[in-house]
Amino acid sequence: MIRVVDLHKSFGKQSVLKGVNLEIAAGKITTIVGTSGCGKTVLMKHLNALLLPDRGQVLVEGVDITKLRQKPLYEMRGRFGVLFQGAALLDSMTILDNVAFPLREKTRTPEAEIRKKAEERLEQVGLEGMGYKYPGELSGGMRKRAGLARALVMDPDIVLFDEPTTGLDPILGAGIHQLIARMQQTFKFTGVVISHTIPQVFGISDYVALLANGVIEEFNVTDAFVNSQNPLVRQFIKGETEGPIQVL
Ligand SMILES: Nc1ncnc2c1ncn2[C@@H]1O[C@H](COP(=O)(O)OP(=O)(O)OP(=O)(O)O)[C@@H](O)[C@H]1O
Ligand SMILES: [Mg+2]
Repeated sequence: MIRVVDLHKSFGKQSVLKGVNLEIAAGKITTIVGTSGCGKTVLMKHLNALLLPDRGQVLVEGVDITKLRQKPLYEMRGRFGVLFQGAALLDSMTILDNVAFPLREKTRTPEAEIRKKAEERLEQVGLEGMGYKYPGELSGGMRKRAGLARALVMDPDIVLFDEPTTGLDPILGAGIHQLIARMQQTFKFTGVVISHTIPQVFGISDYVALLANGVIEEFNVTDAFVNSQNPLVRQFIKGETEGPIQVL
């Protein structure tokens, strides 16, 4: 579905991505792990061209999206649902309006249909009847679920989840994972998840990629990843400060 080829990205003198290669399989969940600050969010933002690379390609079904002009770029982005790190809800709008926002902005769907769809998504994430509340009136877990409802409101082909469970207790986190898995089975989207919630996130992942040193150091089906003898993977899974991954 998505192929990342030799992706390079620097910010000033800081080189973050140094030749990333990655294949995201259609209709599966691929999880990207790596230490804080290693460039996971930067990589994810390249997948729908929110960031453009210094060098390399991002192919979505064979089309290099780094070269698209405004209109096709806009259409391509419409195929993506995004759950940003921290949910990024608009505080001045109710939850229902937040979920409805992409439909109102990007489509000409009649208002009655928009409301119906937004309410349906809220119900699917367990926030039935909560649409009148404002983001500031919700708990962290509820905000994540509202963000998930918004990410799914346009029936996206591809959904990007940047740390959907960070800051939640293990039970709520597991609930969000279950919700993502259930939604993926319902809507059959291609999922890309960034997560620090290890090993729990492996339960919903078909593939796992480890980003370290600016490249994908390991990519495999989940079982093989977890059992990999790659020292980088072992260090990461065990959370050790000593090893080939440099810790600040
Ligand atoms: N727009 C930007 N301008 C300058 N530097 C940036 C920008 N975006 C990211 N960076 C830098 O790129 C590096 C990687 O950031 P990124 O947000 O991708 O990390 P991450 O792996 O997602 O970390 P975390 O797990 O903590 O979210 C950081 O050093 C960050 O400061
Ligand atoms: Mg990040």
